[in-house]
Amino acid sequence: MKEIIGVIGAGAMGSGIAQIAATHGHEVLVYERNNEVVEKSKMNLEKILNRLIEKTRITSEQKNQIQSLIKFVNGLSEMAGCELIIEAIVENIDVKKKVFSDLDKIVEAECILASNTSSLSIASIGSACSNDQRVIGIHFFNPAPLMPLVEIIPSVATSNETLNRAKKLIDSWNKKTVIVKDTPGFIVNRVARPFYGEAIRIYEEGIADIPTIDQAMKDKGFRMGPFELMDYIGNDINYTVTETVFKEFFYDPRYKPSFTQKRMMESGRLGRKTGRGYYNYAEGSENPKPSEDQKLKESIFFRIIIMLINEAIDALYLNIASKDDLEIAMQKGVNYPKGLLNWANEIGLQKVLDGLNKLKSDYSEDRYRPSFLLKKMAENNQAF
Ligand SMILES: NC(=O)c1ccc[n+]([C@@H]2O[C@H](COP(=O)([O-])OP(=O)(O)OC[C@H]3O[C@@H](n4cnc5c(N)ncnc54)[C@H](O)[C@@H]3O)[C@@H](O)[C@H]2O)c1
Repeated sequence: MKEIIGVIGAGAMGSGIAQIAATHGHEVLVYERNNEVVEKSKMNLEKILNRLIEKTRITSEQKNQIQSLIKFVNGLSEMAGCELIIEAIVENIDVKKKVFSDLDKIVEAECILASNTSSLSIASIGSACSNDQRVIGIHFFNPAPLMPLVEIIPSVATSNETLNRAKKLIDSWNKKTVIVKDTPGFIVNRVARPFYGEAIRIYEEGIADIPTIDQAMKDKGFRMGPFELMDYIGNDINYTVTETVFKEFFYDPRYKPSFTQKRMMESGRLGRKTGRGYYNYAEGSENPKPSEDQKLKESIFFRIIIMLINEAIDALYLNIASKDDLEIAMQKGVNYPKGLLNWANEIGLQKVLDGLNKLKSDYSEDRYRPSFLLKKMAENNQAF
């Protein structure tokens, strides 16, 4: 018998996680407090599975099997028999702590309690449980059934047994797992910050317009430019992540949010979902064309990529994750064309360092300080 999985919250993430677990043959018990969301989740799953049948990815028997394995329950008390429960409710520490404290009293001693939080500390969520060794972060990416990466985050309190069991289970769902220290943004939401932040800064300085900055990155293999991606994610969500990471890093200037993005959010220009963001998505509307100035595009790319590389190197220096996991996370979590450490080798560490030092001296801003590890390795002519 496969483990019984519990999922709390049937919004975008909870529904996706339930679908994955059921697809891999687990009975899944879902608790969602809003009945309208329950109905929406069932309808969405029906649509998704029908599409998979059309594409001959699953049979109608498999569809029935998946649907029959997902059971909506009326309260947390019905989750007593679960071996792993993944919480995917609202991103609020007090609400999450209450759910964890309730679950801790209901489930068996062996049950793992996981949170899909994007920004809260696993240590603080775990502190709501008398057994905090069983609490761990299991961070899926949206849409969960399609995105291959899952960040696994043990806290200072998490036992090795919890970590090993959680990793083994998620690996068995054909996901690529990486292990990350319990720090703000984990890997992806931390290392990716300059992709947005530095692009906006370049725009604010008037160095180039938005389509040109996007094209500069796409020329080098990124599927979407920073502004296209922000419009896709939603400027409200992207701004909130940036602001949270900034605050959680004790206001490190490297992560400082921008007024440009804040104003986009405040004006309701949220991106694709509102029909307007950095670009206009209304039917028939034309967006400006990028410049063909290769030198300009090269300099934009260089400034953004060295900031991204610096972030990845600093995460490695601070033991946030292993070298391999850092490389995998950016390729599988946000579709980067290469790992950033590998990219550093290709550009040359000394050149990356020189670029950062020039920015730091030009602007006199701590935002551009090079990682100590980059300095050391460049000094010693080393590569990753
Ligand atoms: N959306 C993303 O891109 C994304 C990606 C990774 C992680 N996350 C994280 O996943 C979590 C959920 O995000 P989402 O986008 O699915 O949110 P969502 O708003 O779509 O869904 C959350 C659901 O939880 C329900 N809920 C709230 N409190 C509850 C409670 N006490 N008991 C039962 N149900 C409750 C709400 O009714 C809602 O349906 C958040 O912690 C978020 O940070 C989101």
